[in-house]
This record gives sequence, C-alpha cells and structure tokens, in this order.
Amino acid sequence: MRKLVLAVAAAAVLMATVAASAQSPIIIKFSHVVANDTPKGKGALKFKELAEKYTNGKVKVEVYPNSSLYKDKEEIEALQLGSVQMLAPSTAKFAPLGAKEFEALDLPWLFKDEAAYAKAMKGPVGKWLFKKLEPKGISGLAYWDNGFHMVSSNRPLLMPDDFQGLKVRISGSKIADQYFREVGSIPQIMAFSEVYQALQTGVVDGCENTASNYLTQKFHEVQKHITISYHAHLQYAVIVNSKFWNGLPADIRKQLDKAMDEATDYTNSIAVKENEDALAEIKKSGKTTLHTLTDDQRKAWQTAMAPTYKWAKGRVGQEVLDLIAKELDIKMN
Ligand code: LMR
Repeated sequence: MRKLVLAVAAAAVLMATVAASAQSPIIIKFSHVVANDTPKGKGALKFKELAEKYTNGKVKVEVYPNSSLYKDKEEIEALQLGSVQMLAPSTAKFAPLGAKEFEALDLPWLFKDEAAYAKAMKGPVGKWLFKKLEPKGISGLAYWDNGFHMVSSNRPLLMPDDFQGLKVRISGSKIADQYFREVGSIPQIMAFSEVYQALQTGVVDGCENTASNYLTQKFHEVQKHITISYHAHLQYAVIVNSKFWNGLPADIRKQLDKAMDEATDYTNSIAVKENEDALAEIKKSGKTTLHTLTDDQRKAWQTAMAPTYKWAKGRVGQEVLDLIAKELDIKMN
C-alpha cells in the first residue's frame, strides 16, 4: 500500500512538472551596455513589451542594461555559448567575431547625414554584413541607430594638432584606432562600463560617443570640453544565437519578428531626437564647454583623417567599401 501511495505521489509530481514546463515561458535574455534612457535602452524595452504582448506571454524578455549581466567582450562570448539570447552591440565591436567588415561603417565622415546612413543600411550593405555572422552561429535581425559621435577631453579639440599625444578611449574598431592615430592621438580599446572611471582618474584623456551616451554615463561631468564634431556614426546590430532563434516554434518566431520590426522602427524614429535632447541637457548642466567646428576646422579634420580610407582597404576589404560607395553614390579613394 505504501509503495502505491509513493508511486501515485511521484506520478503527480511528474505530471505537475510537465504541466508547469508546458506553460513556462521561453526566456530571452537581452543584454546590453547602455542605460535604459537611451535609444538602444528604449528599443530593448519596446521589444520586450511587444514580444510579450504578441506571444501572449509565451515569451518573456529579460532586459539587462548598463553591463549589469555582461560587459562588451563577455556578452558576445555569452551569446555564442547560449548564456544570453539577444544583444545589440555597436557594429564597431564585431572584429573579435571575425567580422571586421562591419568596421567599414566607422569610416570618418562617411555618412553626410542621418538620411545617408539610413539609406545605406536599408540597402544591400546591411544584409551583406549580416551574412558574415552566419558561420559564427549568429543571426542579425536589425540595425538600430544612435546618431553621430562627438569627441571630448579636458582641452578644446578644434584642430587636428589638438589631438597630439591624447590618450583616447575607443570601443573596438580598428578604423577608429586609425583615424585617431592620424591626428596624433593614442587610442586605447576599453569596455564601455569602464570609461567614466578611466576619464575621471586620467587613465585616458578623452573619448568619442553620442550625446545620449555622454549624458547617461555622465562623461560630460569629467570632460571639460566636448566638440560636436559628428565625425563618425554609431549604430547597433541586434543579434541572436542562431540555434536558439531557428529552434523556436515557427508561430512564435513570426510574432517575435513582428515585435522586432516595430521595435526597430520605434528606435530609429527616436534616435535623433533623443540625442538632440541629451545635447540640450548637457549644455544646460553647465558642466562642460561645447564646441562646434567651423567649416575650415572640419575640413582640416577631414584632410587629416582622409588616409583612413586607403588604409581601410587592407582591413575591411574592397567589397564592402564598393557596396557602401555604390549605395551612397560616393567615391572612396
Ligand atoms: C561604446 O562602447 O562606446 C558604445 O558602443 C556603447 C553603446 O553600446 O552605445
């Protein structure tokens, strides 16, 4: 009798477990390094909201902002291992994945404005770049915008000579490394989560980033001068672990694709305004001095950084440069 009771109890536990796991949601861990109150942070939360709504709660998205789960380099390893399912790193950080072609997007003064950037990414360039990720077990879902970079230090950066000897934090791209070297500075790759302290303690003298990142990380509080140079563009690729994504039930994946499309439109529609608002906030804070380049100063930067284009051929290859040039209707030499 006792054996029977035990067997019935065990069967009940088993059935309850099966029932619970049939109902328990699919978890998507979405890790990123910026604050919630930025274009990417808001985009991730929008995706969470829509994904959970369209799948009727069958999917739960856990967003981990501000490097709270992983830092830059670790998060890409974690994605490949399947410890997280979704990331949106800046495309300047893809070389460790063996996809250095993405760095072509970091060329200085490549996109004359936001419209040029959007046009290039909507065309074949974006898709061609995503193909480079497939052999690594990673699928690209979307590109998210975060506008143009400013640059800062504790001295005004107005002419190329002002960069001489300056230790500048960069996020990973060898193209950025190159254009900063061409103006005489000393670039150094560093995780985003370490930048504030490095600027504060003088481990580095300066950095580049968008207004929304300056504001939310308080970089402007530890940099006396910011130049609104808009010399390069910052964009993200939303990426997933392919095995995870392709293994999802087809109807769920369809809903998630819809959620991602809408979250992408949303993010790309707010990026410019978010950065304008952040810039206004930085100005209002009075904690740093903002500089705008004159035409002559901008031309001097462009001339000094121009050799990056020739150098880039050996780094990213001719094919991607040709694709971008065609899309933007420009000549790259
Ligand atoms: C950086 O590391 O500077 C940026 O790429 C951070 C981000 O994700 O915007």
